[in-house]
Amino acid sequence: MPEQERRNLLRDDVYRRPLETALDRLGVSDGWKCVDAGAGGGDVSVALAEIVGATGRIYSVDIDPVARDEVASRAAAYSQVIAITQAAEDLLLPEPVDLAFCRFLLMHVHDPLVVVCRMASAVRPGGFVVAQEPVTSAGRIGGLPFSMEGALHPDAGDVLPSLICRAGLELVDCWAESPAWAGEGPVARYLERLTGVDPGNDPVILPPLVTAVGRVPENRPGDSRNNIPAAGRPTDW
Ligand SMILES: C[S@@+](CC[C@H](N)C(=O)[O-])C[C@H]1O[C@@H](n2cnc3c(N)ncnc32)[C@H](O)[C@@H]1O
Repeated sequence: MPEQERRNLLRDDVYRRPLETALDRLGVSDGWKCVDAGAGGGDVSVALAEIVGATGRIYSVDIDPVARDEVASRAAAYSQVIAITQAAEDLLLPEPVDLAFCRFLLMHVHDPLVVVCRMASAVRPGGFVVAQEPVTSAGRIGGLPFSMEGALHPDAGDVLPSLICRAGLELVDCWAESPAWAGEGPVARYLERLTGVDPGNDPVILPPLVTAVGRVPENRPGDSRNNIPAAGRPTDW
């Protein structure tokens, strides 16, 4: 199994609980139409597909065509999953959705506010935008801070509540959850694959994942795409 796929599966395992908490609190159910932005290996898309059933629809969007193929094969059993190659900054769907979801995406994009606004514009009035992003520097290995090079915004979770508000959404819920363990198990294996560090028996607190839930106002004015900040210089945040 390729290294990236192995790492995806471990992430799905250790971060499955925050995903379940979010979908549970939202009350996602039969027939919902959703978009999973930055879908990667498709863990969120498949979890959503199982809940919305055959009458729902999941647009699984990723900028990387390889991820599109991975989702398509992983979700082959779910006809409600439609995999699309598209940048989240250009998100454009054939119909309004009830929920726009992203996990571990905003930390990698140039301007997270542009993406949140774009997600909001894909959602019907009264529907939801949910973002789950880490605060990487708040993770601990044996009491020492975790660091993650390579992400544009490794602490994107820090600013999620304000991003939701700045995108013109009503902030309806927000919390953080952090997988933690000591010794052998999925937490240690995930950390080792991510960083190359074997924590041995040191306690590991993986980066907390902040979940922010925003609702699109019922009375959203006109064409919401007018609210999207121009791409270019990243928004100050
Ligand atoms: C760390 S993975 C997360 C995958 C998945 N959301 C999850 O939680 O398992 C980040 C994904 O975002 C995608 N991505 C990065 N920048 C993007 C953009 N601007 N638009 C859409 N997808 C993007 C990457 O190709 C990658 O598949």
